[in-house]
Amino acid sequence: MAPNSQAPVLCIDGPSGSGKGTITQLIATKLGWSILDSGALYRLTAIAALRQNVALDDESSLAAVAAGLDCSFESSKPGEPVRVMLAGEDVTSELRLETTGDNASKVAVLPEVRAALLQRQRDFQQLPGLVADGRDMGTVVFPNSQFKIFLTASAQARAERRFQQLKAQGEDVRIATLLQEIEARDARDMGRKAAPLKAADDAITIDTTEYSIEQVLEKVLLLVNPK
Ligand code: C5P
Repeated sequence: MAPNSQAPVLCIDGPSGSGKGTITQLIATKLGWSILDSGALYRLTAIAALRQNVALDDESSLAAVAAGLDCSFESSKPGEPVRVMLAGEDVTSELRLETTGDNASKVAVLPEVRAALLQRQRDFQQLPGLVADGRDMGTVVFPNSQFKIFLTASAQARAERRFQQLKAQGEDVRIATLLQEIEARDARDMGRKAAPLKAADDAITIDTTEYSIEQVLEKVLLLVNPK
């Protein structure tokens, strides 16, 4: 479906582990808006590439994989965890693996891959509104959106949060390893030429290191619905 320019978009950008995913879920449920999990599209591109034996540095083939992604995000109720389907296969668990995130950040460096996913992301702009979670929502995908948030947190705090999440999912990981991976992924995401991770000039930056989820949610809600 073509995008609806009347639909408001709330962009939530920031590095891995800054709380974007959780805040996006909560705020979308609260507002009754839909969600664009743009990271999932890069993750799906990486998974589909592996299925099709495409190397993670073969830019033009990867762009074709990205353009041809046959995927859907299914949830029974708003706010419920979604099931992610790729060519009829449920890839929800594989999607969230650390290795998938790492592979996603490798394919995300490539401008042709980013270009191939651009319109698919813009098409998520539909009424009553969209919460868009990513790295370049406010800078590239929805530069005209009226609500832009950039969430950050120290690398240590993000590694600890990620550790708790992965432990809950039964993954066996060490904080020190996660910290190294987070720092490497930050460097790749911020250092790349195409749509590097950075706050839009008109974004409001919130450092969540010392805040609870509820406190962050309150701040974001105030932006969308000022009292
Ligand atoms: O947010 P998530 O961890 O799922 O993203 C995985 C990777 O995809 C990120 O590390 C980043 O390299 C890439 N990404 C991106 N632009 C986005 C969303 C994700 O480059 N809008």
